[in-house]
Amino acid sequence: MAMTADGKVATAGREVTTFGSPADQRALYALRATADAILCGARTVEETGATLGTGDPAFARSRRRAGRSSAALRVVVSGSASLSSDAALWSHPGAPIVVLTSGKALDREHERLRSLGAQVWQSPGDRIDFPQALAWLGREFGVRRLVVEGGGQLNAALLAADQVDELRVTWVPRIFGGQASPTLADGPLAYTLADAVKFRCVRMRSVGEERFLRFLRDRWQGASLPDRGVISLPDESTPPPA
Ligand SMILES: NC(=O)c1ccc[n+]([C@@H]2O[C@H](COP(=O)([O-])OP(=O)(O)OC[C@H]3O[C@@H](n4cnc5c(N)ncnc54)[C@H](OP(=O)(O)O)[C@@H]3O)[C@@H](O)[C@H]2O)c1
Repeated sequence: MAMTADGKVATAGREVTTFGSPADQRALYALRATADAILCGARTVEETGATLGTGDPAFARSRRRAGRSSAALRVVVSGSASLSSDAALWSHPGAPIVVLTSGKALDREHERLRSLGAQVWQSPGDRIDFPQALAWLGREFGVRRLVVEGGGQLNAALLAADQVDELRVTWVPRIFGGQASPTLADGPLAYTLADAVKFRCVRMRSVGEERFLRFLRDRWQGASLPDRGVISLPDESTPPPA
């Protein structure tokens, strides 16, 4: 996620412009290239026109060389199944699209999403049970490494469900300010300091005026996540593989 000095990930007007540099964009695609699936909230998909694609064809080649499919599975979280039929990803060819919904979603909305080509998974109950949802993605599609691309509501829900192992932040020297601008984690997480979700910073690199930060949950020792099968991650400054 690209984040300002005051923790914001978009302006209050939610204008659709990336405020990260081209290096930040490259880092995003480099990370996607390592993922079995990309996960995104419905409002991010709609507002940013995200297609959750692979980007430069070189990334697809590097995926295939690493034994992965050409493109990561595209997964959107939309509890009420409100994800717009006009969202750009529907018309962008690529990996299959999965929508995760909750018991609040109406059957007719499920049908609409299916008719657009999505596979739908519905969580029991009014809230999405993320451990169950991720376990299903693992069984159904072999997803072991999931890259989450926000927005803040989805991030907060995953943090609250203790499903986040690693955080990548591109820290941009801007301030958006105010309470209306979306933040990295837009949901109640810590009422007291003791409730804070704790990470360790394991890397910081400077590229131009930005800082590329990598954090691991404090439960992980060393710089890798051996139990999840992640051995190494690409360096954002490396050019795309030929
Ligand atoms: N700077 C960056 O790197 C970056 C990255 C991504 C996004 N953004 C910005 O973030 C903003 C969007 O973020 P956002 O927080 O408003 O929205 P979001 O998290 O992208 O999407 C919110 C929607 O996703 C579904 N959802 C999320 N969490 C859920 C949960 N726990 N249970 C059920 N459904 C859930 C709901 O859909 P339903 O309404 O269908 O129930 C909810 O309305 C945009 O302005 C975007 O530009 C910035």
